[in-house]
Parts: sequence; C-alpha cells; structure tokens
Amino acid sequence: MKAKITLAKEFQIGKIDKRIYGSFVEHLGRAVYGGIYEPSHPLADSDGFRTDVIEMVKELNVPIVRYPGGNFVSGYNWEDGVGPVESRPKRLDLAWGTTEPNTFGTNEFMKWCQKANTECMMAVNLGTRGPDEARNLVEYTNHKSGSAWSDMRIKHGYKDPWNVKLWCLGNEMDGRWQMGAKTASEYGKVALEASKMMKWTDGSIETVLCGSSSRNSPTFGEWEATSLDIAYDSIDYVSLHQYYGNHTDDTPSFLALTLELDEFIHSVLCVCDYIKAKKRTNKTINLSFDEWNVWYHSNNAPYERWSMAPPRLEDIYNFEDALLVGAMMITLLRHCDRIKIACLAQLVNVIAPIFTQTGGGIFKQTIFYPFEHLSNFGRGVALNPIISCPKYDCKDFSDVPYLEAIATVDEEKEEMTLFCVNKSLDDDALLEINLLDLENYKPFEFVSMDGYGAKDENGFDKSPVKPHKNELPEVDGATVTAHLQPFSWNVIRFKRK
Ligand code: AHR
Repeated sequence: MKAKITLAKEFQIGKIDKRIYGSFVEHLGRAVYGGIYEPSHPLADSDGFRTDVIEMVKELNVPIVRYPGGNFVSGYNWEDGVGPVESRPKRLDLAWGTTEPNTFGTNEFMKWCQKANTECMMAVNLGTRGPDEARNLVEYTNHKSGSAWSDMRIKHGYKDPWNVKLWCLGNEMDGRWQMGAKTASEYGKVALEASKMMKWTDGSIETVLCGSSSRNSPTFGEWEATSLDIAYDSIDYVSLHQYYGNHTDDTPSFLALTLELDEFIHSVLCVCDYIKAKKRTNKTINLSFDEWNVWYHSNNAPYERWSMAPPRLEDIYNFEDALLVGAMMITLLRHCDRIKIACLAQLVNVIAPIFTQTGGGIFKQTIFYPFEHLSNFGRGVALNPIISCPKYDCKDFSDVPYLEAIATVDEEKEEMTLFCVNKSLDDDALLEINLLDLENYKPFEFVSMDGYGAKDENGFDKSPVKPHKNELPEVDGATVTAHLQPFSWNVIRFKRK
C-alpha cells in the first residue's frame, strides 16, 4: 500500500504529561511477592527487592506506579502493612481469594519507588473503609511530624515524609465484584468527603475519582455524571479502565479495538464537560486512564484458594498483543491534552511487560518493547499527524485505517519521533512523510518489530520477539520515505540539524 503522513509544528495536541507512562503494582498474584519483592532471591538487595526487576523497570522509565490495588485495595487495612514485620497480621484477601502476609506494605513500596526511579500513585480503600482511614494514611505518609500518624511513621523508622502527590479515591467502585461496591451517588458522597479531608491534611495532593470499571459497565456514563456532579469541586481527575482480548481469534478486529478506545475516551470527556457546563465553572476535569492493557490469556487459570502469592493473571503475551499495546498507547497520546495519567496494568508478572520466575530468571514480554519506546522517546509535545492510508473492514468494525500513528517532539533534546503501527497482515507500506515546517529534522534511527507470527511469544529460554534496527529512510528535502513491513511496529527517530 501507499500511505502519507503530514506533520507540522502547529499540529500540536498538547504537552505530554510524563505520568501518561505510568504503571501499576497490586498485591495480587506474584506482582509483589516473587515480583518486585523476593528477599530469598540471589539478586535481591538488602531490602529484599529484586534488582533484575528494578533494572527492567528503569528501562521502561515509568514515572509513576499505582499501588496497592486494584480490587485488593477495597479490603486493605493499610495499618496492617506498616511497623515491625513480625507483628503484622496475615489477612484473607477476598478480592483474589488468597492470603496476604503483609510483609510488604506502604513504606517498603515507597522505598522500592525510590530505587526504581519512580513515584507512587496511592489508592485508598473506599470499599470496606472510608474517609477517616484515607485521611489517616495521608497524614502517615505526608505529614512531617507532631501528630499521631506522622509520629508513628517516624517511630517505624521513616523520619522524612514520603510526600505522595497523587491519590486514587478507591477502585472500580461500580463493580459488583468490588468489596463495598456502591451506587454512583453513594460513591460520589464518600469520594467527596474523602478527597476533602485528604486535601485538608495535605493541600498539595491531587485526587482521582473512580469512573466506570470499563465502557461495558451497565452504569457507564450515568455513573460518571452522577458521581462527578457530587464530587466535582474537590477532585482533579476521573479514572478510566479498559482491557482488551482477542477472544474470537480475529486479529483484524482485535487490532481495530483502538477505534472503540478512542470513542470511550471521547465519551468520558463529554460527560466531564457536561458537568462542567452544568456547574458553570472554569474548572476542567482531566482523565487518569489508570488501568489499560491486553488481558485474556490467563483468565481461567486454576490456583489454590487462600495460598500466598500464587500465580494469578499471568498472561504470556504474543506479537499481536504488542501491536495492540503500541496502538493503544498511541490512542492515549492522541488525547494527551486531557489524559494526564495512564497506567499500563500491570508491571511485573500480573498481566505485565516484565515476567519473572520465583527464585529464577526474568524475561521481557513482547509488550515490553512498544511501551519502552514510547515511554523513552515519546516525551515533549504530541503532534496529530494527518494520515492518508487505505482502510479495511472487519467483523466488528468498518473503515479501520491500516496505519495508526503519532509524532512527538522533544524540544529540549531536539528530537522528534514518529510511532506507527501497520495493522495489515500482509501488505507493506511505502510511507511518505511530509515534514512541512519540521524540515530541519532528519532521521537518525529506524527501529521496528516485524516478521513475527501473530502468536509468537517470548519466554525464559528464548525471546525471539524484539525490535531490530533498519536502514534509515530516504530523505528528499522535507519528504522522508520509509518502508514499513506488514504487521509491524515502527519507530522513526529524527534529530534537529
Ligand atoms: O488489574 C487487575 C484488576 O483489574 C484490578 O485489580 C481491577 O481494578 C481490575 O478489574
């Protein structure tokens, strides 16, 4: 196929908030125990953190990590996870049917964040608990000293406050699977009170209201409108969650799911702005897409009930998953004027780009690479490319453009990057890139992932699916011509001359 992408400085969507490249660690399966924390592992440091995991997290360059859940947080007593480890209680986690040993908690996670060069996005329990425990946790983590909870932190060995800046007001409170699930108005009221009291404790924090647990939630739309109407004045962001799977083994439809994702984002923005209009306020609510990924491979895997950290949700990703993850992130960036935070769910072992063996090795899943490219090179501002390319029809969608792309410009580094997925299973693309007033940017690296079967995976023994370098695209004045392989992930990097 022949395709054309036109770029210009003026096509700016907005500045990219680095927190759009966030991720997520929940007390679930082997995400914490056997993932980021495994004191008996040969590569564990003096805090029990796996250094091989930390190295890979640094490669992903994630600026925030959401913690401690997810569904887990809705039954979590944060007090169980602080203080002397020997006196911490074991609890039944009703969200995932396992036993939580509480040997890893808030302070351990904050320490891990420091070592992994990231920051914590903390979630509070608004399921079985409420605003009081939430504001106590803010006092424990953020207040300097001279109050019961801050002095308790100091007694626990942490003199300086952690200064957690971003807080989730519960998790998926609309879901019937959630401990303490609520109606939208019940939740709106609790979230408002929690946010108010948390902000009175520390005026520098931001809070995220739970949106629907997915676009398929029966109360989607109404949930956002009702809870926002109540909590609007105190909160800063509304959350979105979405996971996709290739359930019917229909790759063209699977890769087209970004059309639905785009519609989902658009709808939530409409609801936010409807409430803004209704309230005649200047305050704009932005979005926190704090759970997104492909998730379906591991759905029915058996596990032993009430065991500690059994393998759960351990999807092994294939090549088509990597292409969708790249396309999903591109879609989020197309809305970076309003999506300020996003979390690839999750980070290690549980539906994650990094996979470990307890007591053993580690490997990079296929989805690691597009996320790594975007997170490292996709900084600065996002440009909306004008894409002209053939389209396809499939079972679930029509008029799906074969190419999905975004460009980012990092003025400081004097670099521009074009990210592009070719969704065609068998057609390569001769892509003409017109740079208009960006003519002084010249390509210096062209990396791609291609030539793999849709179901090809990585593993401990061999990891065939990875990026490779290509010959540089041809340059003729302001026109750059690149050859994109069929069914491929492409990253073309430019430097200002
Ligand atoms: O990320 C796995 C789970 O998916 C989270 O715990 C929950 O919030 C969502 O349903």
